[in-house]
Amino acid sequence: MKRACVIGWPIEHSRSPLIHGYWLKRYGIDGAYIKEAVRPEEVATFLRSLAERDFVGCNVTVPHKETAYAIADERDASARAVQAANTLWLEGGKLHAANTDTYGFMMHLDHAAPDWKAHEGPACVLGAGGAARAIIHGLLEAGVAEVRVFNRTRARAESLAEIFGPRVKVFDWESRSNGSRDACLLVNTTAAGLKGAGTLGMDFSGFNSDCVVADIVYVPLETELLARARARGLRTVDGLGMLLHQAVPGFEKWFGVRPQVTDELRAILVADIEGRTC
Ligand code: ATR
Repeated sequence: MKRACVIGWPIEHSRSPLIHGYWLKRYGIDGAYIKEAVRPEEVATFLRSLAERDFVGCNVTVPHKETAYAIADERDASARAVQAANTLWLEGGKLHAANTDTYGFMMHLDHAAPDWKAHEGPACVLGAGGAARAIIHGLLEAGVAEVRVFNRTRARAESLAEIFGPRVKVFDWESRSNGSRDACLLVNTTAAGLKGAGTLGMDFSGFNSDCVVADIVYVPLETELLARARARGLRTVDGLGMLLHQAVPGFEKWFGVRPQVTDELRAILVADIEGRTC
């Protein structure tokens, strides 16, 4: 039986076992996918002993994505671009790393807003952490001419812009509403909007009516940001689709089947989100 896991600290909240468990059952695969609570000081040891622990690979979540990237023997282009890894697998005795957050976000954006066009205006990104790096990489690859980054701590946005070059421009956090009015896409990558974590205070008046507003937060499913955008008639893209799509490449690597993100799977996750408080 092939076994994979998700590691994080804490890990209890992770919904990855629900996703991979659904696919294992659906495709009749004799496999398992479990949660492993791994403390920061134990990550390196854990990842170097994946084979002895009888795992073919794992997902990596907060706060271990950068450590996983550093420890891997081989890093694919997606991981190198983001300098963080969320998907690991053993191949030829080596630990391989990828970052599937970029893929997850872009796939879901294309599904949820198929007429979204990368060249129809700047894309605005709130936040400058690891998730922002993954999304900015995807947007630049998709052909967005200008990405504007708004971050509470401006210096962090400036470091991020240096990685990506002149197409990424830094703006003050206070200008996040005024400075996004001509955007074709606005994405929240910060934890604000997560239940109990404050609000972003975005004002969508005067926004380009074709702007798509996306949030990577999926608890609640409709964040305050998305509700405000919807009330203004803007198209919205929730964070759950990114979670579902980012899981696809890992499952294929570990279990040999490219799984489908189905309405049934999404409904299972929605029920879980609505039934839990975190
Ligand atoms: P991740 O890997 O999920 O992106 P991270 O690297 O810790 O997580 O980054 C979190 C991002 O959310 C940062 O951009 C952070 O802003 P700072 O750099 O100023 O800390 C942002 N963030 C977190 N809470 C926020 C809040 N309440 N309002 C605005 N931005 C917030």
